[in-house]
Amino acid sequence: MAYISEKRELTPEIKQLVLSAPEIAQKVKPGQFVIVRCGEKGERIPLTVVEQDEEKGTLSIILQEVGNSTKKLGSLEKGEEITDIAGPLGNPSEVMNFGTVVCIGGGVGTAMVYPVAKALKGAGNRLVSIIGAKNRQLLILEEQMRKISDRLLVTTDDGSYGTHGFVTDALEKLIADGLTIDRVVAVGPVAMMSAVCRITEKQDIQTIVSLNPIMVDGTGMCGACRVTVAGETKFACIDGPDFDGHQVNFEELLRRQRMYLQEEKIALEKENSDK
Ligand code: NAD
Ligand code: FES
Repeated sequence: MAYISEKRELTPEIKQLVLSAPEIAQKVKPGQFVIVRCGEKGERIPLTVVEQDEEKGTLSIILQEVGNSTKKLGSLEKGEEITDIAGPLGNPSEVMNFGTVVCIGGGVGTAMVYPVAKALKGAGNRLVSIIGAKNRQLLILEEQMRKISDRLLVTTDDGSYGTHGFVTDALEKLIADGLTIDRVVAVGPVAMMSAVCRITEKQDIQTIVSLNPIMVDGTGMCGACRVTVAGETKFACIDGPDFDGHQVNFEELLRRQRMYLQEEKIALEKENSDK
């Protein structure tokens, strides 16, 4: 069990929750995640740990309300309890001095790239960050990313803020301008991570992506999170969530992520009609 010690609304559908979970806060490393559950029969929701405060025993998660379960979690208020929290899960991201690293966050994926970018900066890398969203209102953690980055590029799909275009346009521009990049870390929608990898593969730039397939137990038991990497089946929860992006079968990942869209829709409609 964990209680919510703080709640912030980053956008109407993206919430940041600070949870009191001292044991996890002591152990968690950048790139790792927790699984939370609201209610005895609640769905298990995997969420990356964005920040932690070891002294206060708290950790921060950012969630986008997309389905029934994330809406339920997002509706909880300060002081309320989350039934279960398990973690830290997954492997920490590889953090060392690579040289110049470009960290890319697409939409809510910025919340996942932030802790890794911060750790990479701390390890002595020159950090160039790119964050993007559909529009200005949906952009998150700009201030935090600016603070840790040597250079920050911001894009919006509709041009309402920063440069008009996708994060991949900004990446292509950096490459065209002659920036030598030693590593790219990209987190966001599957289509974005796949597009980033198509660009970096041509340039032979090592690229790490953080995958978020459907998960159930988060401990390698159920197989729900299987992904194909370099032709082999891997479990994102115990073998990842970080993988070499050039080896990931993104088409299969996209198909598997869409598998329960209809069920999600029905669950949401049922919840709304029960109100
Ligand atoms: P979004 O659709 O608004 O996209 C965010 C940004 O990604 C866009 O502004 C654009 O710059 C870039 N992008 C999107 N599609 C692209 C494409 N085809 N080519 C190049 N760039 C592209 O994202 P959102 O609605 O904030 O994010 C929701 C998605 O992110 C969900 O699908 C969710 O599953 C995924 N997500 C992934 C992770 C992870 O760990 N990988 C974590 C959270 C959410
Ligand atoms: Fe069950 Fe990964 S979530 S094996």
